[in-house]
Amino acid sequence: MSNYDPVEVTPLHADELARMRDDALDAIKAARDLDELKQVRLAHAGDRSPIALANREIGALPPAARADAGKRIGGARKAVAEALAERQAQLEAERDERVLVEETVDVTLPWDRAPRGARHPLTTLQERVADAFVAMGYEVAEGPELEGEWFNFDALNISPDHPARSEHDTFFVESVESGKVLRTQTSPVQIRALLGRSLPVYVVSPGKVFRTDELDATHTPVFHQVEGLAIDEGLTMAHLKGTLDRFAEVMFGEGITTRFRPNYFPFTEPSAEMDLKCFVCRGASATPGNPPCRTCKSEGWIEWGGCGMVNPRVLVACGVDPARYSGFAFGMGIERTLMFRHNVEDMRDMVEGDVRFTLPFGMEV
Ligand code: DAH
Repeated sequence: MSNYDPVEVTPLHADELARMRDDALDAIKAARDLDELKQVRLAHAGDRSPIALANREIGALPPAARADAGKRIGGARKAVAEALAERQAQLEAERDERVLVEETVDVTLPWDRAPRGARHPLTTLQERVADAFVAMGYEVAEGPELEGEWFNFDALNISPDHPARSEHDTFFVESVESGKVLRTQTSPVQIRALLGRSLPVYVVSPGKVFRTDELDATHTPVFHQVEGLAIDEGLTMAHLKGTLDRFAEVMFGEGITTRFRPNYFPFTEPSAEMDLKCFVCRGASATPGNPPCRTCKSEGWIEWGGCGMVNPRVLVACGVDPARYSGFAFGMGIERTLMFRHNVEDMRDMVEGDVRFTLPFGMEV
């Protein structure tokens, strides 16, 4: 082996090493992603790569030839290592860029494809009304919508010849003789409250009522009322006025002005109508010379609901001693209240179920 010629050790040929290096550089350049580059690294810079195998041959060279061969190997390895590092950095940068694009979150995309809806304002208003009275110590009472005539009329001192009893206003169920009606008012809850509870009684009862009216801007055959009843010792009309004034404040804000106007209801004596000072013209339109007001028809006041001191005949019908107990009752229209509170001009909007009406009231709970 003394005349060993390095040129004969093929893998260590300068040309051969250059070819291995160039193969490696080409493969590195051709690697399209980090996985491919990993394979290339294994094939061209790993333990079993051509250059590594060539390196093993160095030991076979005569000592004088080893340094040169080592330099050539070192040069090839350095070139390959540098190219690998450069391509690695390049591919990593490309990957990072791609991830940024592919995984960006477009915060302007619609996030809620199922429209959320809203509760009906008549529902939320009834809850608010109940809350106002619960805050004054009242209980919420309920009664059936399909009601006995006795509860809806007789016990409330509405005689059989009263206009409200004629078939004209009342929805009868099955036959007129059945004695069953769709309640025309929430007042029968007064009777049920007095029969079902011990005294004193302070109840409020929002709910649906039914009358044979045609649907128009100010009437609907199904609407809502809130009934109130307070029976205790020593209650007077002053308590009634104070209670309704507080109710009006909660509904329409502090500073609302109210008045009682004499009226007639069979189940209260005396009876009154509660009016609100018109919140649009503040009553000014009632004075001649001032501009007219559509909201109150230039009367200066708007009718809100009926009330009065409970007629002793109602107390007697429910077994309550009118010599000891007295009290007051009231009944307001929920639709009217919503119209005043939110300037709703047409009652049909409240019953037609168009979500465009309901949505602005939101998901109030
Ligand atoms: N129930 C009456 C109606 O539907 C309203 C009403 C008036 C209720 C006076 C009352 C009251 O409790 O005292 O027109």
